[in-house]
Amino acid sequence: MRGKFITFEGIDGAGKSTHIESVRAFLAARGKTVVMTREPGGTELGEAIRGLFLDRSMSPASEALLVFAARREHLERVVWPALERGDWVLCDRFTDATFAYQGGGREMGFDRIQVLADWVHPGFAPDLTLLFDLPPDAAHDRVAHRGELDRIESEVSDFHVRVRDAYLRRAAAEPDRIKVLSSDQSKETVRSRVLACAMQLLGSAE
Ligand code: TMP
Repeated sequence: MRGKFITFEGIDGAGKSTHIESVRAFLAARGKTVVMTREPGGTELGEAIRGLFLDRSMSPASEALLVFAARREHLERVVWPALERGDWVLCDRFTDATFAYQGGGREMGFDRIQVLADWVHPGFAPDLTLLFDLPPDAAHDRVAHRGELDRIESEVSDFHVRVRDAYLRRAAAEPDRIKVLSSDQSKETVRSRVLACAMQLLGSAE
């Protein structure tokens, strides 16, 4: 049976990374083979693109095109073959991030991102997306504690407000796929909600 594709999203500092490992352990304990990956990245070319993407200044359109080039490579070489084998793929960010960061944050709008998504992965979407949500000020405090910020993390607050708003609009449009988890609660509370979502998908897959 084909595997499932779960993506993890949220503004920088919203706390998604902590929970990816919980989902991996949860699925592995239930006999699933789990592939953990990320975007931009996940392949040799994708990681090289990630380096450029995070360090170099470029136009919003170039950001979107680069991230979709990395994405196509990632899908063809890693994600689609894994799903065909029946593995479960956990991906730290995917196309919702491009809608949020380039569509919302960079103000390209959703329509142009949709054209690229339809071209690069027509008819393909995650089975489940966990969107970790936190007000931008609180998220920024968390990121600032980590040390040096990359090009996108250093963007001013308005940018992150637009990114968050775009994520929430995506979630409102696709409530069955995108589950919003408020990170403004204890890690344990968020974790149990995360695992409840994973359990539901597991149930529907069996
Ligand atoms: P990460 O720090 O969560 O690994 O993500 C890297 C950065 O890249 C993060 O600031 C979000 C940004 N990004 C985009 O701007 N567009 C995208 O499509 C993706 C996948 C990430």
